[in-house]
Amino acid sequence: MKRPLLSLLALAALSASAAAAAPKHGAKWIVGMSQCNLGEPWRVQMNADLRKAAEAHPEIEMVFKDAQNDTLRQRAQIEEFINADVDLLIVSPKEAAPLTPPVAAAYHHGIPVVVLDRRVVGDDFTQFIGADNRRIGKAAGEWAVKRLLALPAVKARGRARIVELTGLMTSTPGQDRLAGFHAALQGEPVDIVFSADTQWLEPQARSEMESALAVNPQIDLVYAHNDPAAHGAYLAAKAAGRETDIIFIGIDGLPQEGQVYVRQGLLEASFEYPTGGREAVDSALRILHGEAVPKQVTLNSRFFTRDNVGRGGEWLP
Ligand code: FRU
Repeated sequence: MKRPLLSLLALAALSASAAAAAPKHGAKWIVGMSQCNLGEPWRVQMNADLRKAAEAHPEIEMVFKDAQNDTLRQRAQIEEFINADVDLLIVSPKEAAPLTPPVAAAYHHGIPVVVLDRRVVGDDFTQFIGADNRRIGKAAGEWAVKRLLALPAVKARGRARIVELTGLMTSTPGQDRLAGFHAALQGEPVDIVFSADTQWLEPQARSEMESALAVNPQIDLVYAHNDPAAHGAYLAAKAAGRETDIIFIGIDGLPQEGQVYVRQGLLEASFEYPTGGREAVDSALRILHGEAVPKQVTLNSRFFTRDNVGRGGEWLP
């Protein structure tokens, strides 16, 4: 009794994968990539990682769109990809809530969607790939507490004073990097004396740090949610002649950005946020070949300090 049913199912699965294996337009699979912006080195690196991984697979063609940090433009660009009926879509969304409907629309249109780095709401997509931002924030918090409590000035004063420069708080990495950091600070003798949303942007971080410096004669550490913001804060402190009094830490840890700042001594630590570009292309190919993929892929991160940057950093605890 079971046999015919099983072989029917097997046949259905086979034809599904056969259908998935045929590009919709011409000889190549068209993979649309909706990037929220290319203003930061990290996003330029993500596109470069995607491009490099795709180059090794002539059977796919990547089409990139840059929303230039504009949510409405990104929504429209995803709709363009749906209208073009691409074979697969990769999206790195600017903000969670407003990008959820177009991502869900693509998915329900039958276009597999890989969401990269920042999340959308719900689970109307094929796969999410990203590092664990809560874990990164917590590791940054634990590192900061340990470093601060070892400072003679903090020991004498009994409490440490932190400035937190967040990423865009309508995007999930900002929310998670904040939550993880605050969890690590629970019960410790440290105070967040100033907090501001930099929207992930260096100039914004620089001007927020000017405000923080103006109202806080004593700042022990700046925790910035990305390295551009940490650098902006450092420049503001330097202009005020206070950069040597403050410890700066950031997130991203790119070899050409955060790791350089650590080597130069501008930042004391940078926590790696892998772009996931290569993993997204690997997943895209598996999906296009009709393979099942996990709903979530969590990428590992290292951290870089003055001590370990020379030997390639260390994996997060
Ligand atoms: C770049 C960026 C990175 C950050 C990531 C978070 O736009 O701000 O610096 O780690 O986005 O999504």
